[in-house]
Amino acid sequence: MQQILTSPFFLVLYIFIIGLGVSAIFAWSSLAPWLPTQRKDLKRINKDANLKPGQSFIEIGCGDARVCSYIARHNPRAHVEGIELAPPLYFYSYIKQKISGPKNLKILYGNALKHNFSHYDVIYIYGLKETINNQIKKKLLKDMKKGSKFLSYVFSLDDDWKDVQTEKPGTKERSVHIYIQK
Ligand SMILES: C[S@@+](CC[C@H](N)C(=O)[O-])C[C@H]1O[C@@H](n2cnc3c(N)ncnc32)[C@H](O)[C@@H]1O
Repeated sequence: MQQILTSPFFLVLYIFIIGLGVSAIFAWSSLAPWLPTQRKDLKRINKDANLKPGQSFIEIGCGDARVCSYIARHNPRAHVEGIELAPPLYFYSYIKQKISGPKNLKILYGNALKHNFSHYDVIYIYGLKETINNQIKKKLLKDMKKGSKFLSYVFSLDDDWKDVQTEKPGTKERSVHIYIQK
């Protein structure tokens, strides 16, 4: 039994569980714990982003970088970034990008609440409603340049975000709330 519990499989499992625990602690105290965007919604999110060559995109709290990787692959002439606060998720995404990721994707380590969002054309977040509206809203509304777009996956935005459009094609798909900075 002891041999099984110290086998490479279990060691990897322990590291994975500890990694998730550390991530949860970091993320829970900030915008949201790690819960990934559904892969079947990536195509729609890319369509909603509607990036043009030369434009820039950032995913706030990029987790395993599935959204920013998809966006970068489908928009090779755009500049794409993902920022992540939880070290295990950051390292995972950073290494994945270095090994097999698209060249136009950069994974940043840091707290999105301290990041400057003034030069992005499209900003994507999958965060909790309360934390988006109470913690990062003020900063984003101040930083975002005119005409730039903010996409919030699942969670709706309060009235301070003017004229928000919601895109949800069917019951199985999750909502994408779209705000354009005036
Ligand atoms: C709900 S998950 C979404 C993950 C990914 N964006 C996706 O859609 O698949 C939220 C992510 O935000 C990260 N996070 C939470 N607070 C953050 C902060 N202040 N700065 C950067 N990342 C943060 C968490 O570690 C977690 O990976």
